Amino acid sequence: MGSIHLNKVSKVFGDLKVIPSLDLEINEGEFVVFVGPSGCGKSTLLRLIAGLEDLSGGTISIDGNDVTNAPPAKRGLAMVFQSYALYPHMSVRKNIAFPLKMAGEDKATIDKKVEDAARVLNLTDYLERKPGQLSGGQRQRVAIGRAIVRQPTAFLFDEPLSNLDAALRVTMRLEISELHHELGTTMIYVTHDQVEAMTMADKIVVLNRGNIEQVGSPMELYNHPRNLFVAGFIGSPKMNFVEGKDAQAFGAPTIGIRPEHLSYSSSEGAWKGKVGVAEHLGSDTFCHVHTENSGTMTLRVSGEAGLKHGDTIYLTPEESRIHRFDDKGLAIA
Ligand SMILES: Nc1ncnc2c1ncn2[C@@H]1O[C@H](COP(=O)(O)OP(=O)(O)OP(=O)(O)O)[C@@H](O)[C@H]1O
Ligand SMILES: [Mg+2]
Repeated sequence: MGSIHLNKVSKVFGDLKVIPSLDLEINEGEFVVFVGPSGCGKSTLLRLIAGLEDLSGGTISIDGNDVTNAPPAKRGLAMVFQSYALYPHMSVRKNIAFPLKMAGEDKATIDKKVEDAARVLNLTDYLERKPGQLSGGQRQRVAIGRAIVRQPTAFLFDEPLSNLDAALRVTMRLEISELHHELGTTMIYVTHDQVEAMTMADKIVVLNRGNIEQVGSPMELYNHPRNLFVAGFIGSPKMNFVEGKDAQAFGAPTIGIRPEHLSYSSSEGAWKGKVGVAEHLGSDTFCHVHTENSGTMTLRVSGEAGLKHGDTIYLTPEESRIHRFDDKGLAIA
């Protein structure tokens, strides 16, 4: 249950081709993340799957059944939005129970399902409160609870954590991953945050202007980005790119090297530069090194490394970790 197949799906708004033509296979029980820059069509794609938008072309099937023209309620999916969309005048209990009540389930069944969901989401103590008396994270858990009780074939999340502060985002990220392990239900999760994509996904779909740039596991995308777009999008801090003579020395028009795959020395190396800003995170330090010929490069060193602003150093890429790209920006195998 919960396999979703998109076949040549397209979407046009007026003159704007938001999704030209897209094929995608989502397997039963998978945690799939759609990631990409703002406006690339992530929400549109999710809404097409949910049935909240009509397709301009192509087909969608769920568990082998064509649902292209099925209304949202008939697709068995549950969607969770960034803006919680809770009823402010109803208690947490009533908010979670709402879809069950609409479906005409009896009170005993509703109570049991609501209490089960509340337990999974640590909301048991809050069932009688109103949404206004909850924190942002708790409100988002209520919205997730309302999705859980419907026992959907798949959950669709659209940037559910972007209204939360950084610390709470990390906690909720773990909770949603935990929930996925517990329920085993297919989840599609939209975000523009590549860290969320890397940490949560079984499978990441990198979108750019409505096209899929690459599909793969987090480590596949990290180790083998297909092109410059994916290379620059996945990984934090970003991959460094070198062009021209300095890249040709390594056998390609453009090379990429991640900050964690550069080493430094005070006496020799491939690229000479001066340390600019050093960002101390405690565990790691990110040094922005202004090189003589290859622009500014980011170097990741341990928090204990004593590099400071103004130091002259030489950077050397780890040979086996160099990514080579042709003049069209495609990875050279
Ligand atoms: N109803 C609509 N009518 C016209 N254009 C739309 C409509 N909905 C979305 N668009 C356009 O489609 C493109 C994709 O929008 P979408 O909301 O899917 O992007 P997104 O990847 O979710 O972006 P974000 O990260 O900012 O949420 C945008 O250019 C947007 O302006
Ligand atoms: Mg969006």
